[in-house]
Amino acid sequence: MDLQVQRNRTVWERASYKHVREYDDLLRQAREGGSLFGRERDRLTDVLRPGPAVVHLQSGHGLEDVGLLRAGARSVVGVDFSRVATGAAQRRADELDLACRYLVAEVPGVPLADGCADLVYTGKGALIWMRDIQAWARDAARLLRPGGHLFVYESHPAVPLWNWDPDEPRVRADRSYFARSFVNDSFPADGAVEWQWTLGEIVTAVVSAGLRLVHLSEHAEPFWRPEGAEAAAWQGRLPNTFMLLARLPGEGE
Ligand SMILES: C[S@@+](CC[C@H](N)C(=O)[O-])C[C@H]1O[C@@H](n2cnc3c(N)ncnc32)[C@H](O)[C@@H]1O
Repeated sequence: MDLQVQRNRTVWERASYKHVREYDDLLRQAREGGSLFGRERDRLTDVLRPGPAVVHLQSGHGLEDVGLLRAGARSVVGVDFSRVATGAAQRRADELDLACRYLVAEVPGVPLADGCADLVYTGKGALIWMRDIQAWARDAARLLRPGGHLFVYESHPAVPLWNWDPDEPRVRADRSYFARSFVNDSFPADGAVEWQWTLGEIVTAVVSAGLRLVHLSEHAEPFWRPEGAEAAAWQGRLPNTFMLLARLPGEGE
């Protein structure tokens, strides 16, 4: 494992104890249906209808997995390099008798068979931890069976620029859309190195991996609002998330 990725893993192991400390609350949220946004459910309706086998890359607390099962998925394999996060998610899945299995592994380089997934799901703070976006896209494509889908609902690549000032949106003087990386200075991954990929680089990586773009949209709502913060950058004028759906062509297509 790359040295910086190893350091990030240490930060994430520490941060993931939150899932253990807040186990009862996450269990309650899972019982209530998990965490899939309405926008995600709407976009995934047709993909989830046939009951796909899902691989969730960087599954974290794993609450999306409950949402995916409730919306039609047959099974979910969550992959995350945090033993703490996968352990807490597996305990909850077992307690609720959910068809979820969690695997401790680095992304990319997931130790699952080629073509094992009908849907690869990821996002909500995932791509910024990828050191090599092309390798990530190739691995996601490799996991898909022909005709399978990749779905990403993610923080917009412009978000590192936004200041959290409450009165007016401002661009941080220490950030650039075209920078390659920066050190995270907010909870939960304080101290970890985030890599930056422009929207063009992300889409190009997906298409270069052999996938066909089905949908790409940008949205003003952030996927996460840290408690107590109310930034003007989240009030509708700036992009804070994007959603991407891509499909691996079927046999002979
Ligand atoms: C912000 S969380 C997003 C996941 C989930 N949606 C959530 O909200 O918990 C990021 C997750 O990525 C994992 N992660 C970061 N870099 C990784 C890597 N290279 N390989 C596997 N997992 C990684 C972290 O352990 C963490 O659980």
